[in-house]
Amino acid sequence: MIKPHGADALLPLYLSDSGERARVLEESAALTNVLVSSATAANAVMMGGGYFTPLSGYMTKADALEVATSMHTTDGTFFPVPVLNLLPSVDFEIGQKIALTDPNVAGNPVIAVQTVTAIDTLTDDEVQLIAQQVFGTTDTNHPGVGAFLSQGKYVVAGPIQVLNFSYFAGEFGDTFRTAVEIRDEISERGWSNVVAFQTRNPMHRAHEELCRMAMNDIDAETGEPGSTGCVVHMLLGKLKAGDIPADVRDASIRTMVKHYFPSNSVMVTGYGFDMLYAGPREAVLHALFRQNMGATHLIVGRDHAGVGDYYGAFDAQTIFTEQVPADALEIKIYNADHTAYSKKLDKVVMMRDAPDHSPEDFVLLSGTKVRELLGNGIAPPPEFSRPEVAQILMDYYQGLDS
Ligand code: ADX
Repeated sequence: MIKPHGADALLPLYLSDSGERARVLEESAALTNVLVSSATAANAVMMGGGYFTPLSGYMTKADALEVATSMHTTDGTFFPVPVLNLLPSVDFEIGQKIALTDPNVAGNPVIAVQTVTAIDTLTDDEVQLIAQQVFGTTDTNHPGVGAFLSQGKYVVAGPIQVLNFSYFAGEFGDTFRTAVEIRDEISERGWSNVVAFQTRNPMHRAHEELCRMAMNDIDAETGEPGSTGCVVHMLLGKLKAGDIPADVRDASIRTMVKHYFPSNSVMVTGYGFDMLYAGPREAVLHALFRQNMGATHLIVGRDHAGVGDYYGAFDAQTIFTEQVPADALEIKIYNADHTAYSKKLDKVVMMRDAPDHSPEDFVLLSGTKVRELLGNGIAPPPEFSRPEVAQILMDYYQGLDS
């Protein structure tokens, strides 16, 4: 199986031994409680599940600046985005252990215990520099930049021990998985190639066909028909207003996979992280944590992890050839072209595979377009969404009006 990033074995920071977990939880009662941001809690969930291997905790300011500018930590580890515990104020000292409490769960239970090894502040210029490097903009209307700026300027670094998976394990029991669990399930299924599909949408026809095309192409490339499985890995954390909630996406994806893919070809899973909307940099983070969960390939298509017009349609592909060092990651990128419905061929195709088509021969498919239709009470047509998925989405949108 593909090796984790930067380590021989995964480093999940969740305390899986129940006795040890109970002991640390008890110990945390005597510690200073620190209510962290949703992003910091999501970072804990990702580190808990082994997705951010080889990190052992939150980065220092020096690491954050180095990662933002060169995608490496100060010790030379490749990492595409800073993983931080940013706070608006601190009432503890270096050397202390602190109990990080979860803003997303009622009663703010302790999610992790952190040993504080450094406390620094970011200057305004440094905040702008990080935003510019990671998000490609300092525009506060960008949802990722907005979330980053709202967290505070104190960088609290140090290793963590994770006590739970926030609301993800309870609310999405069937879907939420750690990287450890996904690796285990991949070996049980016996897949030799595994293509990961990142999504924050219910899967429309374009998404479905991307998975199918990738599986077929990887099978063909490796000369092992049927050896490629697909892990649909949906984001379960926070999105911007107007995006479709995780439970509705989850139901849509499960229905589509059940009806349209052979059994033992697709795993439907999710991870607990808030969307950064960092486009190219987030695509690289996506690749890193998909390698950690055992995927050999990641699909990157049009405007991957993008928002608005902040990124070029294929910037999230070119970053891998132009900025990521060739030996930084083992996972391969499956570059997908713009996918659309061909009226001529009566099927979904990648535009590069239909060079004889003129623009009028295509119906362009996009999640945004589907959301617009649904908002107007119109069921997405079959070129956009499978009827079973359209029904789930219509039910959700009609529920919004009542
Ligand atoms: S994302 O923010 O998670 O990337 P989304 O769930 O819409 O958004 O996309 C999942 C993946 O499918 C991404 O790799 C994206 O680039 C790709 N994708 C979505 N729609 C299309 C399309 N019409 N053509 C090509 N790629 C697409």
